[in-house]
Amino acid sequence: IPVDSFDFVLFGATGDLARRKILPSLFHRFQIGQFDDSSRIIGASRSKMDQGEFQTLVSDALTEFGGIPADAQPDVDRFLALLDYASVDAKGDGGWSDLGAKLRDGVVRAFYLSVAPSLFGAIAGQLKSTGIADDDSRIVVEKPFGHDLASAQALNAALREHFEENQIYRIDHYLGKETVQNLMALRFANSLFEPQWNSHHIDHVQITVSESISVAGRGEYYDKSGAMRDMVQNHLMQLLCLTAMEPPSTFEPNAVRNEKLKVIESLEATPMDNIVRGQYRAKAGDDSYRDHAGDPASRTESFVAMKVEVANWRWAGTPFYLRTGKCLRERVSEIAVYFRKPPHNIFGEDNAIDGNMLVIRLQPDEGITLKTTIKDPGPGGMRLTSADLDMTFADSLPEAGRPQDAYERLIMDVIRGNQTLFMRGDEVEAAWTWADPIIGAWDNSTRVPQPYDQGGSGPEDALLLLHRDGRRWRPIGA
Ligand code: BG6
Repeated sequence: IPVDSFDFVLFGATGDLARRKILPSLFHRFQIGQFDDSSRIIGASRSKMDQGEFQTLVSDALTEFGGIPADAQPDVDRFLALLDYASVDAKGDGGWSDLGAKLRDGVVRAFYLSVAPSLFGAIAGQLKSTGIADDDSRIVVEKPFGHDLASAQALNAALREHFEENQIYRIDHYLGKETVQNLMALRFANSLFEPQWNSHHIDHVQITVSESISVAGRGEYYDKSGAMRDMVQNHLMQLLCLTAMEPPSTFEPNAVRNEKLKVIESLEATPMDNIVRGQYRAKAGDDSYRDHAGDPASRTESFVAMKVEVANWRWAGTPFYLRTGKCLRERVSEIAVYFRKPPHNIFGEDNAIDGNMLVIRLQPDEGITLKTTIKDPGPGGMRLTSADLDMTFADSLPEAGRPQDAYERLIMDVIRGNQTLFMRGDEVEAAWTWADPIIGAWDNSTRVPQPYDQGGSGPEDALLLLHRDGRRWRPIGA
């Protein structure tokens, strides 16, 4: 569905995220006709540059990151014609009137802050005091949204000084992933699963976001963050919320976000015994985490596994196991829901029955698999085996075409004014309230993360975390 004409101002327009994700995403939505030639995309940053130079920068970014076929050049040219550029000084007065003069009245204005969080308040203030932003404008910010509760509260306060909560779009790009939304469709548009979706029927849930890449090239930034702040407090927390939340009464932004908030608020404080931290070792030809971090004594984790309890009526007794790390065997993100076994096995001891398992795959190969137990076909008598009901979206729905990047959906939701897939300020703060004591305990402890081999599934202790409960992780890349 096409959106109305808009003005999109991209602060940090020459940065990495802008070139890799934001600008190519805008192009793809333009190319399919979701907005027309009347909209404007205005790059803003400190660099001195004119419109032509910015067009060249964007054209290069599309070539490098856009995955655009050669015959799309006419569309690229039309897209480049929408671009303009203003050099502004985020912390001073320079350039703001020039930026204001490029904006039109009567259309939605979206301001995307692809800049360091320390600039959020200054830019928000300038946008308001110069009158460039009005009551209908939207402001979009990226993670990291704080590094603890106090800093997240400060960022929220800085933004709310100038904008209302319903104008603030905090991006967690995991919420823009196709399968994440499919999780809601699966749960709330099918009557099959929801009656089973509780501790009576679900033994436990495993949420895995495993990455094969290292932190090489961003070690200095990452070392101040670690897997807990970089992935668990936000991306894994969002996956946990969508899996565990109560059905909202509508698909309205605040109805959904209220339910997610309740999940975070129901999390029990996680005892240190239920958390494993790891750091990848060097291997032949590849440096260790500490080499990449540039700190031979770093205690920052590149891997976390934990057992989390959602203390509410629905989930008491059903643990959620979360794990994420760098330099693991494969890039896999999935939610695996392990159902309890049937209460009684009529097929005898030789026919062990595993419970059903529903796997929601975010990447790669987005899709859903339901592991079932069936009779082994053939002449062997009544022998059981397991088989998958497997749906890879690309195969089942080929007409869906090119996979959409999360940013495409999220940016268009900003223009439409739909906050459902964005984190509300109180959600972010609640997630920090949960994470802070864990990080604080690490800071106060002399224990170091356990080393693990690159290309594996994380440290030994992560396996033990489940073994001691009589469970096992699903193999990474199964
Ligand atoms: C980012 C993290 O938010 O998400 C990165 O900062 C991580 O460390 C990335 O690699 C993972 O995103 P995706 O979409 O590739 O799973």
